[in-house]
Amino acid sequence: MNIKITGLLLASFILLFNALDAKTKKRAAHKTTAGTSMARGQIVYTNVCLACHMADGGGVPNMNPPLINTTYVLGNKAALIKIVLHGFKEDVEINGKTYSNTMAPHDNLNDRQIADVLTYVRRSFGNKASAVKATDVSKERTVGIK
Ligand code: HEC
Repeated sequence: MNIKITGLLLASFILLFNALDAKTKKRAAHKTTAGTSMARGQIVYTNVCLACHMADGGGVPNMNPPLINTTYVLGNKAALIKIVLHGFKEDVEINGKTYSNTMAPHDNLNDRQIADVLTYVRRSFGNKASAVKATDVSKERTVGIK
């Protein structure tokens, strides 16, 4: 094959590949930001929190506390956001049972993921509390470091 034609073919392959790559990237980005905060939050919950707090938010008695009707879940948003950002390690009594386990920090999640998962938790399992916004989380991330 003529070297010019080979070069031309190669160049068009590179162009085609770049175009396809940009398209898949765009689609992937769209997927993670699409849907409601509740729907996205459910995905984060399933991937990150479910193993300990269970699908129904019921937790595991004396090990992992429930997320149903607790003062932490329904109460102050800033304190709740801090639990996810910095983890939680206190001897606490929640809904009549004591817990002294450790929850690790989840500050690898971005502001929107934390807002979505907390909105999901605050409005699922029978909970009825207001949504958490990504800006609420970013505020805690910057002021919350002690
Ligand atoms: C490895 C297990 C584990 C994972 C994963 C985990 N938690 Fe926890 N979580 C715990 C434990 C254990 C405690 C109680 C810590 C203590 O006893 O001080 C807790 C406490 C909490 C509390 C405060 C107490 C309550 O029940 O209201 C909230 C809210 C909470 N977790 C939410 C979450 C959310 C949201 C996620 C996912 C982003 C998550 N947790 C992921 C184990 C976990």
